[in-house]
Amino acid sequence: RQAKFMDFNLTEEQLMIQQAARDFAQAELLEGVIERDEHSKFPTEQVKKMAELGFLGMMVDPKYGGSGLDSVSYVLAITEIAKVDASAAVIMSVNNSLVCAGIEKYCNEEQKMKYLVPLAKGEVIGAFCLSEPEAGSDATSQKTTAIDKGDHYLLNGTKNWITNGATASTYIVIAQTDVEKGHKGINAFIVEKGWAGFDIGPKEKKMGIRGSDTHSLLFNDVKVPKENRIGADGFGFNFAMSVLNGGRIGIASQALGIATGAYELALKYSQERKAFGKEIFKHQAIAFKLADMATQISAARLLCFNAAYQKDQGMDISQSGAMAKLFASQTAMDTTIEAVQIHGGNGYVAEYHVERMMRDAKITQIYEGTSEIQRIVISRTLIA
Ligand code: CAA
Ligand code: FAD
Repeated sequence: RQAKFMDFNLTEEQLMIQQAARDFAQAELLEGVIERDEHSKFPTEQVKKMAELGFLGMMVDPKYGGSGLDSVSYVLAITEIAKVDASAAVIMSVNNSLVCAGIEKYCNEEQKMKYLVPLAKGEVIGAFCLSEPEAGSDATSQKTTAIDKGDHYLLNGTKNWITNGATASTYIVIAQTDVEKGHKGINAFIVEKGWAGFDIGPKEKKMGIRGSDTHSLLFNDVKVPKENRIGADGFGFNFAMSVLNGGRIGIASQALGIATGAYELALKYSQERKAFGKEIFKHQAIAFKLADMATQISAARLLCFNAAYQKDQGMDISQSGAMAKLFASQTAMDTTIEAVQIHGGNGYVAEYHVERMMRDAKITQIYEGTSEIQRIVISRTLIA
């Protein structure tokens, strides 16, 4: 029997979304996931199907082409997808909770009609470009500049490690417009693929989430029309921080999914594999590992639901989002390491999935703010 987790009395609709995501993951993502990992192949066809299911603009208002669902449904869907394919989950997370959410909350009507509608329908994919070679955790140290030239800004600089880097068509780019003003002199812009002076660097060779494409982006005198700035002058850093609060729920759910996927495989294997005349689950050392995994996953799920619930209530989620990401990412790491251990030698080879999950888990402690940065965010809220 599986461990039982509190379900928060999920609504019919939430259960339907969860089931749809589970069915999709089993039918469309499972087959080929090992090969996509091995060859660093983007799941192009699968992402098209995710768009058809409304998974790329899940929380966007239907009037902008989205599915109009709540954040709890979003957590449920990402978790189911990440259980099978963590790369597909991050593609989905960036499009939903960074790009679509940022545009829907902070852009004007004209920008929404032009950019949000195709993104929410999944006709195009988005990328969120904050990190730079010299500005990762220290995100206010932006070196990319956007100089005001009257009717346009002139964008110059390099962004690093951008998810959906080559597959995206719409990019939210953060840049410094006035160095004197520090983080109050930072703006966010919508930039389109193909604009003169915008080049995409080679694909990164990664440890995990190898089905997602990660690239550096190079901007050399790119003309960005004034109307593509998001919000009032100087709002860019607060924009990025606000959007990342929600993004962290997406990555926490990705981590929860990876952990749950690995746990379920390990639980099954432990009841099939025999050593010393009995199933390895009957060795207490193995059963205790599974007990710890189930406990951690249960706590991670509650933190994800809590942050999603608070977001749906319109509450400040800087603390709850960071807590969910910090704990769920550690859970993903701990759980996948133990899932490999429970599989023994089989755990070390691709066909049993858990070695990929262990490699995929690590990134959840790094992107959208490292675990150290989550602790900074959380600790500041304790005395705010
Ligand atoms: N929510 C809302 N606002 C926040 C915030 C939060 N969680 N954290 C900071 N801010 C605001 C502050 O209130 C402040 O605004 P005001 O001046 O208007 O009051 C402003 O941001 C600057 O804050 P600090 O003075 O605290 O700045 P800092 O330099 O000391 O630290 C930081 C800020 C929290 C460490 C921030 O730089 C940070 O979050 N770094 C991590 C960056 C990150 O997460 N990058 C992810 C890139 S996207 C990605 O990774 C996608 C992917 O992989 C899939
Ligand atoms: P650094 O900031 O150099 O940190 C190095 C180490 O020092 C870390 O352990 C960090 O926690 C620690 N550290 C730094 N400052 C402190 C401090 N004050 N206190 C304690 N410890 C500290 N970025 C985007 O903008 N968009 C994307 O789509 C995107 N996708 C990504 C996909 C992948 C696969 C990867 C690897 C990265 C991606 N990133 C993206 C970048 C990611 O957000 C950064 O790598 C991350 O924020 C950390 O920044 P950094 O790599 O510069 O590390």
